Amino acid sequence: MRVGILGAGAMAEALGGGWVKAGHEVLIGARDAERAAELAAGVGARAGTLREAAGFGDVVLLAVPTSATADVLAAAGAADGVLDGRTVVDCTNAFVPDEAAAEGGPVSFVLSEDAVAERVARLVPGADVVKAFNLCAAEVWAGPRRDFEGRALAVPLCGDAPDAVSRVAGLARDLGLDPLPAGGLARAKYLEATSVFVVGLWFGGHDARAAFPPLEAAFAEVD
Ligand SMILES: NC(=O)c1ccc[n+]([C@@H]2O[C@H](COP(=O)([O-])OP(=O)(O)OC[C@H]3O[C@@H](n4cnc5c(N)ncnc54)[C@H](OP(=O)(O)O)[C@@H]3O)[C@@H](O)[C@H]2O)c1
Repeated sequence: MRVGILGAGAMAEALGGGWVKAGHEVLIGARDAERAAELAAGVGARAGTLREAAGFGDVVLLAVPTSATADVLAAAGAADGVLDGRTVVDCTNAFVPDEAAAEGGPVSFVLSEDAVAERVARLVPGADVVKAFNLCAAEVWAGPRRDFEGRALAVPLCGDAPDAVSRVAGLARDLGLDPLPAGGLARAKYLEATSVFVVGLWFGGHDARAAFPPLEAAFAEVD
């Protein structure tokens, strides 16, 4: 599959590098041509402009800060229909430190924007947007180990178009991950909020995983 990536940062490197290793053609596009070329060379991908990346991918990963989303999609040619008919993967997170948090209290973050994926979808009305890969750090997606306690790491996917969700599910499997369809794009806001919460736990030195029972114990006591 052809994957275009908008942005040449940690997520572009982690996911793009994994997809190159899995045999996909990847083109990394950025506003800084030198940065795109350097990153692409490091992972065995091609480099180009934002517009070239958008026009290259059957799947296009949006991997920039949420504050840059509108500018980046404009530079990618969204208004000219460059992304029409493509699957856009939104891995972005919009969180900032919680200024209202009590001094000395738990580390916490808040959303700087609600429902980012739905805003992305409004900016690319001819594309199918899927929220994915926002829950874990780039280092996790890049790491060689994809399973914990004997289970493959799951990647919740939220999107409205079944074909697009299934395309992204395939890309998750290619990274050794377990795709987990989690509803339509309107549910992506919960994935975004979940990320804010668990990252706060991790930064505070707590194991987010410890707060959730296994499925068989979710509604009943299991002995
Ligand atoms: N890193 C993680 O662990 C992680 C995990 C989950 C989700 N995410 C989310 O994934 C997205 C990307 O994260 P990242 O860590 O890869 O970011 P990053 O390393 O900071 O890279 C961001 C990329 O966006 C580009 N960019 C920033 N502002 C821009 C603008 N106004 N116009 C054009 N390009 C712009 C940067 O270009 P320049 O180099 O030219 O500034 C860079 O190529 C973010 O929304 C983040 O919240 C990150």
